[in-house]
Amino acid sequence: MIPFMSMQTQTSTNMFKAKYSAPSNIALIKYWGKKDFQKPINPSISMTLKNCSTETEITYIPGEKLEIEFYLKDKKEPSFITKIEKLFGQMESEFPWIKKGRFEIHSNNSFPHSSGIASSASGMAAIVLCIFDINAQIKKIPFDLVNEAKRISEYARLGSGSAARSVYPFFSIWGKTKASEISQDSYAVGYNNFSDFFKSFCDTILIVNKDKKSVSSSEGHSLMDTHPYKEVRISEANRKLITLIEIMKSDDFSSFAECIEQEALELHSLMMTSNPSFILLEPESIRLIKEIRDLRKTGKKVSFTIDAGPNIHLIYPKSEFNSVKELCEIWQKENVIIDFIHDEIGMGPFKI
Ligand code: PMV
Repeated sequence: MIPFMSMQTQTSTNMFKAKYSAPSNIALIKYWGKKDFQKPINPSISMTLKNCSTETEITYIPGEKLEIEFYLKDKKEPSFITKIEKLFGQMESEFPWIKKGRFEIHSNNSFPHSSGIASSASGMAAIVLCIFDINAQIKKIPFDLVNEAKRISEYARLGSGSAARSVYPFFSIWGKTKASEISQDSYAVGYNNFSDFFKSFCDTILIVNKDKKSVSSSEGHSLMDTHPYKEVRISEANRKLITLIEIMKSDDFSSFAECIEQEALELHSLMMTSNPSFILLEPESIRLIKEIRDLRKTGKKVSFTIDAGPNIHLIYPKSEFNSVKELCEIWQKENVIIDFIHDEIGMGPFKI
């Protein structure tokens, strides 16, 4: 690792630094399929997580040539640089200094790799936040994260679609929908009009498989371009988002559970019926889905959602935490899951 001091003496006395933590998020109505440039074909809503986050520090020294060094957990990772250069290229018209100078980027995820949590959402949001902060330092203007949230979301979206939703506390909506007057395809907005019941919600990630996904999210998104059910999907996602928002105005857990579970299974049905077809669920995923539904019949307030992978996100109010903990230990003992990560609803990004 090149120490910062040597960077400083090498080039100029101007050095700018910013450090932010940005959360991951779990979609309840999923973004699946793109249009135009990294815009969603359907609206999505997500819950911001608290523990699963990325901390990123950027040190910038103005110069003539663009140089980027990227470290993940203090280990140099040149493979990330192409994506970051691409993002910087997209930010250049508003931040002309971004293509000139030396960047040292240190990133650290609080969650393990291949845990069913994509680091691209929190990672891209954290980078964009640092860039906004450094821009304010260079121009000697104030920077307020809350006031700038939409623009941060817009740039984070260019880095990774779901990153658009990693900028707000509690819940975010991304994509035009009749459920919100202010939501847009180009950025996400915070969603606040929900019952207090949902403020205590948790997400325990049940890890059934840590292998790399056989089909990436990008490939999955592009298979939607020619999907035979594309139009039905768009109208169903819109319908479900409106339904879910109505449900979340009251404390109706069973309707909430039915809606998010139907959505998770719809996502996986789309994968199974695309051309080529693919299946990301494992036998253990199906077993968990059935058990969670059976548990609900016994009165437990537990539900699931699933992203583009085999791992199950158990979504529940905090009052169920102790029984979920016991269940996880049993599932682990019975080799249904190999690990689990507890998380809960979060308050959004912050400066460190
Ligand atoms: O942001 P991407 O391109 O990794 O896509 C995310 C896709 C899902 O996680 C399956 C759904 C979502 O809305 O987050």
